[in-house]
Amino acid sequence: MGKVIEAKNLTKIYGKKSAAFTALDGINLDINEGESVAIVGKSGSGKSTLMHLLALLDTPTKGTIEIDGQNATKLSKRQLNKLRNSRFGFVFQQFFMNANDTVLENVILPLKIAGVSRFKRKKMALEALKIVDLESKAKNKSTDLSGGQKQRVCIARAIVNNPKIIFADEPTGNLDSATGDKITDLLFALNEKRGVTLIIVTHDEDLAKLCKRIVRISDGKIISDSAVRKDAQAKASERREKEAARVKRANEKEAK
Ligand SMILES: Nc1ncnc2c1ncn2[C@@H]1O[C@H](COP(=O)(O)OP(=O)(O)OP(=O)(O)O)[C@@H](O)[C@H]1O
Ligand SMILES: [Mg+2]
Repeated sequence: MGKVIEAKNLTKIYGKKSAAFTALDGINLDINEGESVAIVGKSGSGKSTLMHLLALLDTPTKGTIEIDGQNATKLSKRQLNKLRNSRFGFVFQQFFMNANDTVLENVILPLKIAGVSRFKRKKMALEALKIVDLESKAKNKSTDLSGGQKQRVCIARAIVNNPKIIFADEPTGNLDSATGDKITDLLFALNEKRGVTLIIVTHDEDLAKLCKRIVRISDGKIISDSAVRKDAQAKASERREKEAARVKRANEKEAK
């Protein structure tokens, strides 16, 4: 398994002089192809900052990031855009949807930027919408969707370009448990079946344990980086299934 991301001495300082704040402090992190990695830590510890740097959405104050052995800190804006839109998928807390565009247009966007032909990108976008069960909403305006549906559009957009790496920041944060489970299953299916590398920021310990590896951050530093034991993974998975069954029963009861 090759390295897909190699971050060396990543440092991010927000603000200047007396207002300067060190959000990340000398992070070294390698991520291999096909891994699933959870990034966990308290609110304000630097998880989103790290995710934004790894996903090349922001630049570090110090340090370097290599993607497939290529130094990304040396690329031009245009090259960065192209790299991101052809190789990465994003599922973020803030939706980043263009409210006035249709669902289909939102999903097509990364393909447009990556230079995929008009005919092919429509086909690919409809396929992605089918996976998240939203084909019927393709022509709707994005503002007309529910929160969970918006999140699913974001998933469709994240997977539409067959990315090598998916970055997800609290992917299930705003969702009810059933929708959250669906999204989680989808992400791990992509990881297992298509070898997509998953990097997930989460507060949910059980979701973290579904990953093969957990990286813990505190005050901008990595405080632990370890493989999830198979039995812990199985237990987390079992707890998830039990909870899903409980919610299902409760819903059925309510419907009666
Ligand atoms: N643009 C910014 N300017 C100044 N400080 C910032 C900026 N963005 C983030 N910070 C600070 O950097 C620290 C890390 O922020 P970050 O968003 O990475 O935290 P987080 O671990 O993702 O937290 P949460 O779990 O609440 O999402 C915080 O103390 C935050 O206030
Ligand atoms: Mg965050």
